[in-house]
Amino acid sequence: MFAIGLDFEARRVAELDLPEPDAPGPGQLRLRVLEVGLCGTDRELSEFEIGEPPPGEHALTLGHEALAEVVEAGPRTKLQPGDLVAPLVRRPCLPGCAACRRLRRDLCLSGGYTERGILGLHGYLREWVVDDESDLVAVPADLASIAVLAEPLSVVEKGLTTAERVHPLGPARALIFGAGPVGLLAALACVARGWEVEVFSLEPPNHPNAELARRGGARYSNETPSAKADVVLECSGAPAAARQGLDWLAPLGVMVLIGAADFDVRFPGFRTVMENQTVTGVVNASPEHFATAVSDLARFDRGVLQAMIHRRALKDWRAALGGEGAEAPKSVLAVAG
Ligand code: BGC
Repeated sequence: MFAIGLDFEARRVAELDLPEPDAPGPGQLRLRVLEVGLCGTDRELSEFEIGEPPPGEHALTLGHEALAEVVEAGPRTKLQPGDLVAPLVRRPCLPGCAACRRLRRDLCLSGGYTERGILGLHGYLREWVVDDESDLVAVPADLASIAVLAEPLSVVEKGLTTAERVHPLGPARALIFGAGPVGLLAALACVARGWEVEVFSLEPPNHPNAELARRGGARYSNETPSAKADVVLECSGAPAAARQGLDWLAPLGVMVLIGAADFDVRFPGFRTVMENQTVTGVVNASPEHFATAVSDLARFDRGVLQAMIHRRALKDWRAALGGEGAEAPKSVLAVAG
């Protein structure tokens, strides 16, 4: 079976030939992968900065943002052939730490988790997959054109749930650093919550991503944010943005790091105490965040979501992975022909 992934022996990204998966067992479904979105993690993987093949193998199929169709249902499953699904990325550790046992694999304490397309488990850039039903989230058919965004949005949902839980009075204003796919999804999610939203990024105001942020209901700025915010979301991955974000946190504010910027700066500890602020990081997402992402996609501005996606033929995978010729923030590879 055709797949695209990392060959750890040759240290290159290559077309792979994977064995077809076995028939689905109890609680499992055989899926036809329809499309796969690419993100910064895939680019880091293709530079061999991160990633691990499954044990005993030397290649790792890429792809962790996917939309797939059920083609065969094993015994004791609820989903049926023809149903659409968005797969979760992470699989819990075994026998299960306190977090994984409570369906919070995203908070895994042991570090023994695996992640499809990233860590120790083949991803979705291939024709067929067999997955446990418990690792899949059902997607209504009318969301088919945008549901590939469920995975990146699930991480945003986790960040926002955290901010809402932590902010003592409930947030009213959000400031988002970064106007890439995650920043734009964050803007839509904050607008949908009824907050005042500003996206701050380096692109000039006439850049298409800035335009998308405004179409989605956010204010956009590239010089200086207009005001402090109750929630600051770092979605750019840039250390400078993470540092700058701290300065724009209002009293009681919650700063959420999503972009995994490795920043090491003088921390405004006194102000954080005196203003009752919180700085937190989030990675991955629980089944519940995925379900929220799917239902939120249905209420976001559909035009903005569609304009975020540039669908590309599978044969163009190398250019798409390298970020060449991108016509929209999110490159998506059409896997099923
Ligand atoms: C994915 C997460 C994953 C993280 C670290 C991100 O790109 O969205 O699900 O946990 O990479 O591997």
